[in-house]
Amino acid sequence: MHSFEELSRDFAAHFQQAHFPDQPQSLYAPADYFLSLGGKRVRPVCALMGNELFDTINPDTWQVATAIELFHNFTLIHDDIMDKAPLRRGMETVHIKYGEPTALLAGDVMLVVAYDYLNKVKSEHFHRIIRLFNNTAKQVCEGQQIDMDFEKSEHVGMDAYLNMIELKTSVLLAASLKMGAILGGAGEGNQQHIYQFGRNLGIAFQVQDDYLDCFGDPEKFGKQVGGDILANKKTFLLIKALESCNESHTQELKELMRSADPGKVEKVLSIYRQCGVDDWARQLKEKYINDALYHLDEIAVVSKRKEPLRLLAEFLVKREY
Ligand code: IPE
Ligand code: IPE
Ligand code: MG
Ligand code: MG
Ligand code: MG
Repeated sequence: MHSFEELSRDFAAHFQQAHFPDQPQSLYAPADYFLSLGGKRVRPVCALMGNELFDTINPDTWQVATAIELFHNFTLIHDDIMDKAPLRRGMETVHIKYGEPTALLAGDVMLVVAYDYLNKVKSEHFHRIIRLFNNTAKQVCEGQQIDMDFEKSEHVGMDAYLNMIELKTSVLLAASLKMGAILGGAGEGNQQHIYQFGRNLGIAFQVQDDYLDCFGDPEKFGKQVGGDILANKKTFLLIKALESCNESHTQELKELMRSADPGKVEKVLSIYRQCGVDDWARQLKEKYINDALYHLDEIAVVSKRKEPLRLLAEFLVKREY
């Protein structure tokens, strides 16, 4: 069994290969630029771990892991356009550096190359993998659209938020684990439990992402702190604050959401701090991590083999970047 660090390092070495031709450079240099910025490689490692839970890692899983990481990077390039984000992984986003039209195409071609890797899968489970990949990709698009729709809506409840982050974020973690498990020969019941482990973990992961967007250390976080506030994103921080802060804080938040006040981020953060958001974040993450761990426990393999996944869960909710 391998740890997150080992698999992440091995995957990074594997992923170094050239994914694109040279010409036109104006398209492929931006795509390469983005991939060279790295990232945590959480999803491909999930695929590898999902496989290794049941069997030694299969060559097909490396192809699927590569496809998943390319797909993820495609979603990030487009997400940064949608979110008007200037920074990612501590560096300029693709659309800021090369312009939006090129960023769109660099993302598009990355998605297509992801399918080139999927197409290399030799397993008898090929069609099952494609079906899961495509269903997941459609869900991500749905989640991303709902996320943008919510920017314009004043009343978003906690359930609607949870549904949105499940779609935009958590299904991809869940599917990555499940694809690895399928290729590792897992039975139906085990596949379902590992998917539910990933789904719950993915929700906790996005809650932490929302938290870091407000309170992350800019040096470590690598993205613009306060970006969600500027974009009027309906994060759990905002929803919870509107639900449970006192009347004057609630009114102030609603006014700030409608304003272009240059001090908006600082003012919203100050209200969040006064309302005790740290505790909410901790409680919400704890609930979903516990649900995730329940499903991990239910998987019918010896407990020792599950240790890397337990540690992964711990790392993902404590992460600072
Ligand atoms: C960012 O994902 C997008 C979210 C779903 C929050 P990661 O935090 O995994 O991004 P990288 O790949 O490590 O940069
Ligand atoms: C992104 O959610 C989810 C996807 C990219 C599909 P966010 O918009 O919160 O991700 P970051 O914070 O930009 O990484
Ligand atoms: Mg974003
Ligand atoms: Mg977004
Ligand atoms: Mg975010």
